[in-house]
Amino acid sequence: NKIGYGEAHSKIILMGEHAVVYDYPAIAMPFPKAKAQAQVTLSEDGLFHIHSRVYSGLLESAPENLDNIRKAIELTLQICQMPTEALGIRIDSSIPEARGMGSSAAVAVAVVRAIAQFYQQEITDNQLHFIVNQAEVIAHGSTSGLDTLVTSSTDAFLYRKSKQPLPFKLNIDGFLILADSGQIGQTKEAVEKVRQLKEKKAAFVKEAMATIGDFVAQAKVAIEYNDIYELGRLMTYNHYYLNQLEVSNQTLDSIINAAWMAGALGAKLTGGGLGGCVISLTETKEKATYVAHKMKEAGAQKTWILPLRQS
Ligand code: MEV
Repeated sequence: NKIGYGEAHSKIILMGEHAVVYDYPAIAMPFPKAKAQAQVTLSEDGLFHIHSRVYSGLLESAPENLDNIRKAIELTLQICQMPTEALGIRIDSSIPEARGMGSSAAVAVAVVRAIAQFYQQEITDNQLHFIVNQAEVIAHGSTSGLDTLVTSSTDAFLYRKSKQPLPFKLNIDGFLILADSGQIGQTKEAVEKVRQLKEKKAAFVKEAMATIGDFVAQAKVAIEYNDIYELGRLMTYNHYYLNQLEVSNQTLDSIINAAWMAGALGAKLTGGGLGGCVISLTETKEKATYVAHKMKEAGAQKTWILPLRQS
């Protein structure tokens, strides 16, 4: 009984969301604490099955639609010239859906990898990215390719629309706390809100975007110099501007305030905003545990702690 396994991690944007839409740089990183896993076997009854269990948080859950995954499967079988047998596919994902964590891309990456392993075929990064990007277009209408890139790689990336993504290692000592607000993130609405604000207050929004871009560039340097304090400050400044761009909300701000009050070095929303997740930074694991606890008290549904330096 052959089995193929595949997995992929979630991703978060460390800094630069929204400004990245206007061609400023953002830093995105793998978040291996939340993962998607897939398992492929031959279907026992000759019919094609997908069983999917995906974490969708406590408050609201997104409707399950597997069209993106079907597309990924179809393309994988086609591109790799695999036999069209009836497969049984199990998906298990601990990545909160619709929080800007790349859940749909990660699930697709895991499925493609599982099928490739099932048929003992190598799949190139280019093939993987192509297939998952097609699935992402079905899931979201369009894609920048960022989620596909980061959920399938162990590197962090400096990402800019008009440039080649620059992979780098997060060689910095410190701990990141990710907190799920439990609210579905509203990336589309948030991007549209910023666009409208830009029509009303063009100069202000333009300057905010350029400033966020500068913070991101400085953050990249802070990481190179292993300066967690500077990175924390820059994250907080970044949030201040996201707040001015009106993409935060009361729930996110309460959780972020709680992190600051508990002594975090920095805290901000991550992803599209208007819900979704927030991140904060500490120098030690003990501090991270305390900050995570305080973020939960302030309304976070779930928290994860990640050492930034990856071995
Ligand atoms: C959402 O995760 C990130 C945004 O910058 C939108 C985008 O880049 O497409 C808000």
